[in-house]
Amino acid sequence: MALCLSNSPPKRKGGGVAIARPEAESGVEALRRLDRRMKPFEQVGVLGLFVFTAAVFLLLLVCLLYSGYREAAAGVVAGRSWTRAMSGGAEECDWFEGEWVWDERYPLYNSTDCPFIDLGFRCSENGRPEDFYAKWRWQPFRCSLPRFDAKKMLEKLRGRRLVFVGDSIGRNQWESLICMLASVVPDKSSIFEVNGNPITKHMGFLIFRFRDYNCTIEYFRSPFLVVQGRAPARAPKEVKTTLRLDIIEWTSHKWKDADVLVFNSGHWWNFEKTIRMGCYFQVGDKVKTNMTVDRAYQRAIKTLIDWIHKEVNTSTTQVIFRTFSPSHFRSGDWKNGGSCHQEMFPDLGNLQFSLKPWAQFLNPFTNKSLQPEIEILNVTKMTAFRKDAHLSLFYLGPSIRAPLYKQDCSHWCLPGVPDAWNELLYGLFMRREEMLQRSATKNSTFDG
Ligand SMILES: *[C@@H]1O[C@H](CO)[C@@H](O)[C@H](O)[C@H]1NC(C)=O
Ligand SMILES: *[C@@H]1O[C@H](CO)[C@@H](O)[C@H](O)[C@H]1NC(C)=O
Ligand SMILES: *[C@@H]1O[C@H](CO)[C@@H](O)[C@H](O)[C@H]1NC(C)=O
Ligand SMILES: *[C@@H]1O[C@H](CO)[C@@H](O)[C@H](O)[C@H]1NC(C)=O
Ligand SMILES: *[C@@H]1O[C@H](CO)[C@@H](O)[C@H](O)[C@H]1NC(C)=O
Ligand SMILES: *[C@@H]1O[C@H](CO)[C@@H](O)[C@H](O)[C@H]1NC(C)=O
Ligand SMILES: *[C@@H]1O[C@H](CO)[C@@H](O)[C@H](O)[C@H]1NC(C)=O
Repeated sequence: MALCLSNSPPKRKGGGVAIARPEAESGVEALRRLDRRMKPFEQVGVLGLFVFTAAVFLLLLVCLLYSGYREAAAGVVAGRSWTRAMSGGAEECDWFEGEWVWDERYPLYNSTDCPFIDLGFRCSENGRPEDFYAKWRWQPFRCSLPRFDAKKMLEKLRGRRLVFVGDSIGRNQWESLICMLASVVPDKSSIFEVNGNPITKHMGFLIFRFRDYNCTIEYFRSPFLVVQGRAPARAPKEVKTTLRLDIIEWTSHKWKDADVLVFNSGHWWNFEKTIRMGCYFQVGDKVKTNMTVDRAYQRAIKTLIDWIHKEVNTSTTQVIFRTFSPSHFRSGDWKNGGSCHQEMFPDLGNLQFSLKPWAQFLNPFTNKSLQPEIEILNVTKMTAFRKDAHLSLFYLGPSIRAPLYKQDCSHWCLPGVPDAWNELLYGLFMRREEMLQRSATKNSTFDG
């Protein structure tokens, strides 16, 4: 599994987290149980223990502060079915504004039951001692998300294609969705890569078919979404390759007719992965040696949006862009010893939370005229809380531990955070299905 390289570590002010009550136990009870399960941590040493104790104390504090608030909120949530919340639209409830709550019913699947996960994402099997990171559920403030129903989604996907296009974090999300869906398919051999390619081998694309549902969940690797190619003749010597900011990825003809398209990009749009490697930016036949990476990203996204308007039939294809997934390197970054292996809990603190570190990735999508043609799976903020859920040292397999100075604080353990993105993806998907169904019924009523 290739490490996906990322920008300098984000500097943030902290976010909101609460221990949830609704699913059977109070936050205090949950904490008590966490405490009992602490034994495995002895190996992380005194410092780890100290950090843990401090975290528990903080959690307890936050929990107490929240208990009153949650009581009030529970009444609001309880009386509202998710269909009503959904039909109310984005003004009524922003799914992406919320908090992570402790939920014993999670995770939605176990990695040992899902053969479709890269070795590198199997934190628990690779030696991560606790699984707290898999037990948080995303809870919007003003409504509840539809409960993920794999059977329902597979039925809706019958005879259809759902395609992820993007970088390895997109692959992370793609594998998560396959596992979430596969959890209701008893015969795992009825799910297979159509070309027989193994999931651990890096390929340009991988297509998994669910035989009994005649549908495919596909991944096309394209970290930049635009074409990367050889430098034009007579380009300056330092220019080895260029990103054609005005041309969409060559493989686009293979996926433009998919029923659901989920894009993502961002982690490769930095100096190290472009200009440092001799990869410059090109528009038309001009190499723009002076263009900054941020400018180039904006230009590439414009190309994507224009291409969607021109080439994709958005009445038959649902187009979704999943926003940037923050990394959490502490005291350094991916190339100089940044770490996240001691993080065991989501970010704590106040709800004032700056998205500035990722503004350059979010800006192209704030234009409301994009919607509803392109739906935004706006995961940046919710994900920023989750410093606890990265691979850190546990991405090399069961018997090898990564060295402390070489951590992965960009990708995510599975099960884990990408499952929550996919619960939101499920929500967007079902919302559109319901809307289409409603308008179809309405029309047939008029016709009849
Ligand atoms: C995962 O494994 C645990 C322990 O073996 C079990 O209690 C739990 O039900 C499993 N979860 C799922 C979704 O299969
Ligand atoms: C499977 O789905 C495809 C469309 O993706 C369709 O053309 C084909 O007829 C379906 N096959 C069966 C057996 O339903
Ligand atoms: C590019 O930047 C260099 C150095 O900053 C400057 O000398 C040159 O004029 C710039 N070229 C263009 C086309 O802006
Ligand atoms: C888009 O798909 C719909 C439904 O199949 C079809 O009626 C319409 O003509 C298509 N639009 C274009 C531009 O191809
Ligand atoms: C995504 O969510 C953040 C935080 O709620 C918000 O500031 C931003 O405008 C949202 N972006 C889009 C494109 O919806
Ligand atoms: C928003 O998008 C529309 C259509 O693509 C474009 O005409 C407009 O200039 C954009 N607005 C901003 C502020 O970028
Ligand atoms: C239903 O009718 C409306 C208005 O006549 C039309 O815009 C819409 O596309 C129709 N929907 C379907 C699913 O046929």
